[in-house]
Amino acid sequence: MWFTGLSGAGKTTIANALGAELGAAGARVEVLDGDVVRAHLSKGLGFSREDRDVNVARIAFVAHLLARNGVIVLVAAVSPYRAAREAARAAVGDFVEVHVAPPIETCVARDTKGLYKKALAGEIAQFTGVSDPYEPPEAPEVTLDTSTIDVAAGVQRVLAKLVELGFVERALARPDARSLA
Ligand code: ADX
Repeated sequence: MWFTGLSGAGKTTIANALGAELGAAGARVEVLDGDVVRAHLSKGLGFSREDRDVNVARIAFVAHLLARNGVIVLVAAVSPYRAAREAARAAVGDFVEVHVAPPIETCVARDTKGLYKKALAGEIAQFTGVSDPYEPPEAPEVTLDTSTIDVAAGVQRVLAKLVELGFVERALARPDARSLA
């Protein structure tokens, strides 16, 4: 599952909550969060288009390795470029794109990390949504406006789509999860 959207949209929050739910149901789950990946696997990369594309390609590569071993991977990354997300979709195979899309005003008002304030003051260059592009998905499997729904409702919306697509049954049908299915 690939959560894309602006910084502060709620990608990590929804992905972590959904991951906890799927984990409790017996699935093997891993969350790949942009901020965490950038502290390790993508340490040293910046926010040029090239560096973002490299970051996203690395995340997709690891997601693919995990997914082919039966792990449900929840990616939470701004991933602003459509082409890079489409490449991730092609690399991974079973791919559910979730556009976490509150109005940017909501992200600015939340300013969880204080970065919008700095970006709007011109202290951070190439900040997505302020001074750098964000290309919204054209056909995401799910769109969540986290300014109008809470975390639990967001999780339910994604879960409903996973059931509709047949992914959740597959996960819950794993032998180690049978008793919980
Ligand atoms: S991506 O564009 O390469 O997919 P990623 O999700 O890994 O981005 O990292 C985005 C996070 O880095 C943001 O949530 C924010 O905390 C931080 N960040 C720092 N500088 C920027 C910037 N110029 N644009 C976007 N995010 C930034």
